[in-house]
Amino acid sequence: MLLLRRCRNLIQFVPLNTQRCQLAPALASCALRLCSSGISSEEQRAHHRGHRPSWRHAAAGLLVGAGAVVAYGLHQHKAERADITVSTIEKSSTLPVFSQEEVTKHRSLENGIWVTYKGGVYDITEFVAMHPGGDKILLAAGGALEPFWALYAVHNQEHVLEILSEYKVGELSVEDVRKQQQAGKSLDPYSTDPERHPVLHINSLKPFNAEPPPEILSDSYITPSAFFFKRNHLPVPQVDPASYQLHVEGLQGEVLTFSLEDLKTRFPKHTVTATLQCAGNRRGEMNKFKQVKGLNWGIAAISNATWGGARLRDVLLAAGYGPDVAQWARHVQFEGLDKDVTGTTYGASIPLNKAVSEEGDVLLAYEMNGEDLPPDHGFPVRVVVPGIVGARNVKWLGKIIVSAEESSSHWQQNDYKGFSPGTDWDTVDFKSAPAIQELPIQSAITTPADGAAVSRSDETLTVKGYAWSGGGREVVRVDVSLDGGKTWQVAQLRSSERGETPEPSPPPGRAWAWKLWEITAPLPAEAQEVEIICKAVDNSYNVQPDTVSPIWNLRGVLSNAWHRVKVKIREDESEE
Ligand code: MTE
Repeated sequence: MLLLRRCRNLIQFVPLNTQRCQLAPALASCALRLCSSGISSEEQRAHHRGHRPSWRHAAAGLLVGAGAVVAYGLHQHKAERADITVSTIEKSSTLPVFSQEEVTKHRSLENGIWVTYKGGVYDITEFVAMHPGGDKILLAAGGALEPFWALYAVHNQEHVLEILSEYKVGELSVEDVRKQQQAGKSLDPYSTDPERHPVLHINSLKPFNAEPPPEILSDSYITPSAFFFKRNHLPVPQVDPASYQLHVEGLQGEVLTFSLEDLKTRFPKHTVTATLQCAGNRRGEMNKFKQVKGLNWGIAAISNATWGGARLRDVLLAAGYGPDVAQWARHVQFEGLDKDVTGTTYGASIPLNKAVSEEGDVLLAYEMNGEDLPPDHGFPVRVVVPGIVGARNVKWLGKIIVSAEESSSHWQQNDYKGFSPGTDWDTVDFKSAPAIQELPIQSAITTPADGAAVSRSDETLTVKGYAWSGGGREVVRVDVSLDGGKTWQVAQLRSSERGETPEPSPPPGRAWAWKLWEITAPLPAEAQEVEIICKAVDNSYNVQPDTVSPIWNLRGVLSNAWHRVKVKIREDESEE
């Protein structure tokens, strides 16, 4: 409460002396976090500026739910960054003890919605309307939260427990706690996830999201699969290649089915080298400017691989695609085999033109870098849509639907969209923006790292990085500055492994793979610190914006401002 009072900006919107206010727990813990999180005062002001209207509405009870969304949302990226296991909730000996049978009776709004968590019983009826994940919370009604929280690791944070603790009404009987513990041993839906390389920087363990150290990216033109960034929304599904089936709908009335063997033997194998980039790559830089919601990716949610598989175009033609379908169809939807607790699969769609174009090079890939797809990258089959945002490259592909409509999936409709810097969570309308497809021009410095030190006696500095543009646009130049943007030099571009003969230029509009670049330049004479900047240009003369400010957006996607790193110059002792 003392901390709350210190947060003057916040408490003016919180009815502290009301009886039980639905929003108070969420707001209070939000306030506590903001007061104690250690973020800078400018960031705090940014939070307050950005979210104050929601709190005002929430406290007034006008927008039931918005306050809780903000309360969760503000901390979501923190929880996504690591698998924070919060183990206990304080027990109160004065509360009544309930049996599981009694808890189970409370599964409706009329009888109340009760749940259990680590031996506590909670009446969350009032919270249901505020749950950021919507109605899904009802799936746990009358039972344990653990199986659901195991899937959605965002709940594993103290802040969420603080909210839950406000709704505690009793203890679960010792006998039933024991039964739950027995049942819970096989609960973790991520227990069958594959082993990963320890060098990866983990942004979230469950689901697994990780990127390689940036300097690894510029070591090899083709990113080894173990180091390729990994972006999963759900547990990695276990798919038996022998019984795998790909269903294709929407063409000749019936659903056609292809086995893995069919894809490998009935269609010619095509190989495409293509860069995949997550829409959230470099989100961390947006976060520094003003907090956004999402995984705090660095500069390495991008990688380059050689993919092998059947062309989607060939499979669609074999399944009956023709001029009659082209009359009405506009999109090709994809569904993954990874499912959430409701059975909803990951899904996305791409425009039909891209899917069927001979120049689109869209693959139903079963190979990555000459081997079977690794489990994390979609084994046994994934879509590779060169030039298009990673989110549409659906892994563990289960179904293709040719349709007049875009995918109705959450990730197509309510995520992976760009907005104005002036749009925030209280004003955003996801329907108003198109789903991201082609990504903009991008480049970043992979070495030296920000904050590194170089020796004055080195006299020169070597800077390396990557550059890529979406939609098959070729990177034609990378400019590098060693003096914070006052003067620029052109870096050397590379489209093959070091020392190998460069591949011929790709046909216009089909430059799917990145270029690695490098420059060695003299260290500025007087400076003690160098600000290195890179910016790329593609063959449509698209350039990167110089700062984050004009492109900031609430989800932190499409982050492609000039990349800047600062390096210290160490004076050698003999010269001092
Ligand atoms: N496909 C399925 N089925 N499930 C997913 O979670 N993530 C998408 C896309 N395809 C995803 C998916 C996102 S957001 C990205 S950026 C890419 O996969 C990442 O691919 P990668 O893990 O092979 O790097």
